[in-house]
Amino acid sequence: MNIQNSFLQASSSERDPLLLVLKQSQQYDVRITKVEHRELTDVHGKKLFDFASCNYLGFDCEQEALLDKGVQAAKAFGMHTSRARLMGYHELFTQVEKKLATFIGAEDTLLFPNTTLTSIGIIPALVQKGDLIILDKSAHATMYQAAQMARDKGAILKSFAQGDMDALETLLKTHSHCPRKMVCVDGVYSMTGDYADLAGLTPLVEKYQALLYVDDGHGFGFVGENPDVQHPYGSKGNGIINHQGTSPANTMYVAGTAKGLAASAAFAAVTPEMKEYLMAYAKPLDYTHPSTPFCLGVLDAALDLLPKIGEQRRADVYKLTVSLVEGLRGLGFHVMTQTLFPIISVWAGNTQTLIDASKYLYQNGIFLTACPYPTMPRGKEALRITVTALNTQQQIDHMLMLFADIKQQWQQAGVALTPDGESYAHV
Ligand SMILES: Cc1ncc(COP(=O)(O)O)c(C=O)c1O
Repeated sequence: MNIQNSFLQASSSERDPLLLVLKQSQQYDVRITKVEHRELTDVHGKKLFDFASCNYLGFDCEQEALLDKGVQAAKAFGMHTSRARLMGYHELFTQVEKKLATFIGAEDTLLFPNTTLTSIGIIPALVQKGDLIILDKSAHATMYQAAQMARDKGAILKSFAQGDMDALETLLKTHSHCPRKMVCVDGVYSMTGDYADLAGLTPLVEKYQALLYVDDGHGFGFVGENPDVQHPYGSKGNGIINHQGTSPANTMYVAGTAKGLAASAAFAAVTPEMKEYLMAYAKPLDYTHPSTPFCLGVLDAALDLLPKIGEQRRADVYKLTVSLVEGLRGLGFHVMTQTLFPIISVWAGNTQTLIDASKYLYQNGIFLTACPYPTMPRGKEALRITVTALNTQQQIDHMLMLFADIKQQWQQAGVALTPDGESYAHV
């Protein structure tokens, strides 16, 4: 046997069933040959409506507006920096970092290649032996990985259930002797679209002199300041901290630019002293390459495009999201959203129901994210639908028609539509 494959065999019984489930769901390894906005064609020639994109504003299809600056940057600075950021970098980095800082209202920012490397860079670089990291149990897996790396260095790692401020306060109080304390949360939770409760978290981190690490991978570029009833996502897209109107003191705000702005990068809002420190001690900045000049040019152009078309795009997303959620709830499905952020997870509740529904949706032209265990806890397996400004009402109507079929299938199989619902009797 090939020695590589022996690693797969040896412990397969201990592996979680993720791969097997994803394969069965058919919402896996979808190879795309053609993209026409949110209509895709896969290698089998199947047409799929794309409800798996997190490019909420549809900037991924704004080639006309975004390519020029990317190409200019590549022409001016080359295709790739090919050395660690620590050693030296083009002024484009400085310009984009200043622009991002002004945009969100921070002193300065520091670019990273993506959000994952931002967390893996920052969290272990900041905490030392005996320091405390408290993770929100619903926080993104990449923060878990970063926190585990910090634990390997001797940091204490604890967790609390999302929103349980009493549990968080107990942990902060019990560990108040730790020299440095960090609390890690999502800005917008990637499975439910919930918003971080910054109003609840901020007084606690201030009281116990902790740093609140907020990963706004989904929110940045989309949610922003001054939300109201008509504009629940707020305006400008300057992130969850502006959406919630909280002051960034005691906060390390981290955001990805890939989802909101279609530019493959991420950044952290930092003080100048922190920037200098992280340049040397955040591993991705001294051991691996930074974003390409092309990406930074695209990001620069996307920041210019945002005030021109962002508000209309947000309004479009809201309209489509409301229509989808009302349709699903009208059918009786349990939809895990309180905010109407365009991440809409439909509860399936067990592996087989999830597989069957995912397969049916793929076979009938819907591409979405199947979320089995361990992406979701057991009993909360879900079909995640992300809505973007480039989806259409016709696509939503098609999906709702398929969910009406799924409802019938579940009823016939005696499967409940909601976690607390009665199972349907077999007919
Ligand atoms: C909250 C959160 N953080 C980080 C990531 C990873 O982001 P990136 O692709 O920029 O590494 C995701 C991806 O979906 C996310 O939802």
